[in-house]
Amino acid sequence: MRGLSGRSARYWPGIRVSDMNNIITIDGPGGSGKSTISRMLARKINFLYLDTGAMYRAVALAANREDIDFRDGKRLGELCGLLDLHFDTDEEPPSLFLGNEDISMAIRGPEMDMLSSEVSAVKEVREAMVSIQRKMARETKVVAEGRDMGTVVFREAGHKFFLTASHAVRAERRYKERLERGEAVLRSVVEAELKRRDRQDETRSISPLRPAEDAIVIDSTGLDPEEVVEEILDHLAGS
Ligand code: DC
Repeated sequence: MRGLSGRSARYWPGIRVSDMNNIITIDGPGGSGKSTISRMLARKINFLYLDTGAMYRAVALAANREDIDFRDGKRLGELCGLLDLHFDTDEEPPSLFLGNEDISMAIRGPEMDMLSSEVSAVKEVREAMVSIQRKMARETKVVAEGRDMGTVVFREAGHKFFLTASHAVRAERRYKERLERGEAVLRSVVEAELKRRDRQDETRSISPLRPAEDAIVIDSTGLDPEEVVEEILDHLAGS
């Protein structure tokens, strides 16, 4: 099994990487297409895909199960210290495990969008996740996807991209995703939630969502994922 774990190198083939060119960061708001694109890109260039949003979702799921108050940074920090998170990247898309439990489906539940956004604003949670993410990327080549990959976690990365798209297109993508998962949801609710989450992610005091100064910004409105991946590959080839 190939995978990414913050705890040990037990799933790694043992490649040691010191070169920041081996880290590609892709940040952007919900619905910008960054998950699909990061996954496709990683597969094409044989890098591992690191989905950091899934990690914040895992914290939200675990904290919710433990009934922890999301304002209690200390307890959330302690919880993060105990979480045994790893990705099984043999799966497509990669599965996320909490201990032996595959939580890939549970973290996509309808309430997890807002809960993960809330928990991700907590300092203790971010500190713990950043440290795990850096460990995961230490010995392999990754396409790291999230909100603060280029600005905070892998500030020295050789290649940084920021994906965006119009609010209408992002809301439409999220709406379709949720319908495909079999959720009975209204388009207006998805739109309103996305707006609220954007505001929350962009205005929080720690690591707010914004493009790194040296990121290449790509607007995916009206583009297929394949076209965006091609654009990224062109940049990589030219740099
Ligand atoms: O990408 P996503 O929708 O799965 O992310 C869920 C939440 O996690 C998102 O609202 C903000 C947060 N997040 C973050 O703060 N930093 C990251 N690097 C990734 C996600």
